[in-house]
Amino acid sequence: MEKTVRFGVSMEKDLLEKFDDLISQRNYKNRSEALRDLIRSELVKEEWLQDQVTAGVLSFVYDHHIPGLMAKLTDIQHEYGPLIHASMHIHIDHHNCLETIVLTGKARSIQAFADKMLSIRGVKHGMLHSVSRGSNL
Ligand code: NI
Repeated sequence: MEKTVRFGVSMEKDLLEKFDDLISQRNYKNRSEALRDLIRSELVKEEWLQDQVTAGVLSFVYDHHIPGLMAKLTDIQHEYGPLIHASMHIHIDHHNCLETIVLTGKARSIQAFADKMLSIRGVKHGMLHSVSRGSNL
């Protein structure tokens, strides 16, 4: 583990109380770990904004009975093949499938892939979770 540095932070009492309430709700044991995670979260946002090599998870739900839908989803995945590391398909019920795809690559390519997948008619709901490879954190 890297050397830890201590530093002081000044803020309004009200703001600190709100912060303490929030981190307590989220189960943090102390302010330091909560603050570290907030900073990491901002670094990940920056990683995505600067189109760095990063990681993401795309999840979506669709009706597999819609003609041609599965073929379209597969075609796009082949187009973006190098970004895709793993995918999982769960047959939720008679109509609905849930798919999760794990991706790494340039942020804009991951976003472009997600936008293409989620905008297809028949994909009912989906979300790209912006993660990180962790190397800048
Ligand atoms: Ni299915």
